[in-house]
Amino acid sequence: MPSKITTSTLMKMKKEGQKITALTAYDYPFAGMLDQAGIDIILVGDSLGMVVQGKENTLPVTMDEMIYHTSMVSRACQYSMVIGDMPFMSYHGALDKAVENAGRFLKEAGAAAVKLEGGADVCPVITALSKAGIPVQAHIGLTPQSVHQMGGFKVQRDEDRLLKDAGNVQDAGAFSVVLEGIPSDIAKKITRTLTIPTIGIGAGADCDGQILVLHDMLGINNRFLPKFVKKYADLAGEAKKGLDQYIKEVKGGQFPSKEYEYK
Ligand code: KIV
Repeated sequence: MPSKITTSTLMKMKKEGQKITALTAYDYPFAGMLDQAGIDIILVGDSLGMVVQGKENTLPVTMDEMIYHTSMVSRACQYSMVIGDMPFMSYHGALDKAVENAGRFLKEAGAAAVKLEGGADVCPVITALSKAGIPVQAHIGLTPQSVHQMGGFKVQRDEDRLLKDAGNVQDAGAFSVVLEGIPSDIAKKITRTLTIPTIGIGAGADCDGQILVLHDMLGINNRFLPKFVKKYADLAGEAKKGLDQYIKEVKGGQFPSKEYEYK
């Protein structure tokens, strides 16, 4: 197994034009599969509020829940870099509280970095965390924690603002930036302008890397999927087949057969 991915590996990959692979994960078994498959970055996203907890958006997710899930993911990873997502309202008040919350991801949960949403407005937080030795991945464009402010999950098209936000988060000290829900030509411009790697989700093919929500791309649940999601497997369909067969065999008395009994 090659050595663990770090912020320097990601910078090197950008320089050499090697694409960066990223996915979300929220627990030990899936994180283990991703790590062994060789996924470069595992983000413990606050998307867990929607795909694991069944909530309408990411806003109710708490710091304690994020620490709990990030710890499970970190324990499974020998190769992938683990990034913990700072939940809504964990970095919006006093800077020292943001540093304390971000520090918990590294101290208690084994993450190597944190991610937070926002552009120019969150630059003081990015700088404070970077000064405290906490690597920060920024996240601009469609930022799900601002769903009410954006009036829904909408593609963001203000090129000047996106370019400015991207430059600002880089200058503030971010080691990477997620570009979500923006037209691909703007993502391409940002990727060419920045020296830090861009990780796209619904931002076209020219970003330095790509991320998707694991439960969407593996077909784990049947919620609405945005246009940018490609479904690489149908795990919910496979599970349904197994469950139907189990019910049939238990009801029909075929399970357990002799081979599953103790003598
Ligand atoms: O919470 C999350 O999973 C994310 C990714 C979709 C980038 O922020």
